[in-house]
Amino acid sequence: MSVAKKEYKRITVKTLVDMKANGEKISMLTAYDYTMAKIVDGSGVDVILVGDSASNVMAGHETTLPITLDQMIYHASSVVRAVERALVVVDLPFGSYQSDPKEALRSAIRIMKESGGHAVKLEGGKEVKESIKRILNAGIPVMGHLGLTPQSIYKFGTYTVRAKEEEEAIRLKQDALMLEKAGCFAIVLEKIPAKLAQEVAESVSIPVIGIGAGHGVDGQVLVLHDMIGMTHEFHPRFLRRYMNLYEDMTNAISQYVDDVKSKDFPNDEEQY
Ligand code: KIV
Repeated sequence: MSVAKKEYKRITVKTLVDMKANGEKISMLTAYDYTMAKIVDGSGVDVILVGDSASNVMAGHETTLPITLDQMIYHASSVVRAVERALVVVDLPFGSYQSDPKEALRSAIRIMKESGGHAVKLEGGKEVKESIKRILNAGIPVMGHLGLTPQSIYKFGTYTVRAKEEEEAIRLKQDALMLEKAGCFAIVLEKIPAKLAQEVAESVSIPVIGIGAGHGVDGQVLVLHDMIGMTHEFHPRFLRRYMNLYEDMTNAISQYVDDVKSKDFPNDEEQY
């Protein structure tokens, strides 16, 4: 089903706030390289997130913790070269902003200068408030991230739904209000109950973008490789797979191997 989309030449942080005000949902997907980013941008996605999920998806790590600032800058600069329309948001990786606000600002400046990204995202609530303020004071837009925050996986112990208990839900609501007040232009809510996510979205004027947070929020984000079915071991309830590329690619590559072995490839037309 095709839905009427307003035509925006270039998405900015202001466009996203206007979209929320106008009731237009925001689409966001990850990308980590030039080729994929070109397809994602050309398909009309509003926000491209160069997520630290690159640590899992691109490098095969078990968690997002190992990816470095230099590696994030490499991925982000590849994405930026491809993008003409979307807003490019780049994750500040684990260890690049937690120790103090000055380090957080230095890391954000490196991302903006060396990759050409348009904004940064970081995980956490009141514990990162001073870092957020410092980055914003330098003119760098910041997206917050609450709920399941994968950089804290060793503190949580599991990737299960967060904020099911009242105490954590109250803290999350307070953190969302704090992020808005501090000046964040948007917030990602990951894997929390849909009712809570909707309450948060209704309590702030900045866009709330959900992953596993139901349909009562202002937009949705998924990891590209999951939604096109390139990964196949991961089956969370919130994930809708639009393709089964793992199977399609495996079949195509097996066919190529057979064709080489059987001398079917290359044929007379495929040579000089
Ligand atoms: O790194 C990432 O891909 C993310 C999304 C899951 C929101 O932070």
